[in-house]
Amino acid sequence: MILAFFLMELIIDSGEAWAIVKYPVIWVVLGMVFFFAIALEIIVAALQRILFSGLTPEAKENYLAAEKVREQNRFGWIKRKYVEMLGAKPMSKESEIVLDHNYDGIRELDNKLPPWWTYLFYVSIVFGVAYFVYYEVFDGPSQIDEYETDVAEAQVAIAEFKKNNKDLIDAESVEQLTDPADIAAGKTIFTENCVACHKDGGAGGIGPNLTDDNWILGGGIKNVFHTVSEGGRAGKGMIAWKSDLKPSEIAQVASYVLSLHGTNPPDAKAPEGDIWTDGNTPVDVNAKTVDSTQTNVETTNAAVTDSIKPGN
Ligand code: HEC
Repeated sequence: MILAFFLMELIIDSGEAWAIVKYPVIWVVLGMVFFFAIALEIIVAALQRILFSGLTPEAKENYLAAEKVREQNRFGWIKRKYVEMLGAKPMSKESEIVLDHNYDGIRELDNKLPPWWTYLFYVSIVFGVAYFVYYEVFDGPSQIDEYETDVAEAQVAIAEFKKNNKDLIDAESVEQLTDPADIAAGKTIFTENCVACHKDGGAGGIGPNLTDDNWILGGGIKNVFHTVSEGGRAGKGMIAWKSDLKPSEIAQVASYVLSLHGTNPPDAKAPEGDIWTDGNTPVDVNAKTVDSTQTNVETTNAAVTDSIKPGN
């Protein structure tokens, strides 16, 4: 069964995974091998019994004696090899290797190095030569080369994974999409869901202008993704879209919104919120509530100061 198992792992191409995991039918094959082995054992035992009962009493005795010897010698080869590999002299023969000095009764045996140890040593020499030739003489890949190959492979794997798992993104991991196909998809989503409040091209209506430098809830892909997914401040009208749109769609519409930056659509709504500089700092929506009221106060103050300037 073990042989059958490894043979199948060897010949069945299952990529990275174990063949037995990828093709559960192998369990069935192994099960059949198992029953076949049991059947074989039973047949052999039955044959033996039949042949045995046909023997003369004398032959029976001989047979049993031979069986006993065979039983005793079972694994004899391994036992002999083991003793040989240890290389120790039996105690009865120690007199052959005792050295002739004697320190107050302490004597020394001149034991040879155990063979298992010397063989390992030879193996390490062969390995060292092969290693040296491969890496130094024939310029095998250095650790840095190997590292770079691994990283390149991993990056391909990550790209592949991202392509197949577009909906695994969140506000932390999202990246701005630039592919025209994604932007076009984002535009469709925007036209279907968002224009009622943000107007065509993001000019702003009930919702704020999405094309200017100012953001109430923070600009940049991470914040915009977060706003669209979780919604705006309570009571303002911007709902959380995460139950209507898939993460991949939110990424597309958020990227479309960011692509509108600086487009200056006609009838644009006046800027609201702060000028956004760093595209990546996430914003706490609740903290922002306080901030933006402050901004409003400041703006009003500025307006007041403006109006009482002598020139006005
Ligand atoms: C019912 C009206 C409405 C709809 C529909 C709507 N929004 Fe909004 N949106 C708003 C309002 C109101 C705000 C301001 C929220 C606030 O002040 O907290 C807002 C804020 C935003 C912001 C943050 C703007 C800023 O300055 O921080 C983004 C981004 C946004 N919306 C995108 C979208 C997208 C994308 C859709 C479509 C999936 C959408 N909105 C649909 C009303 C709407």
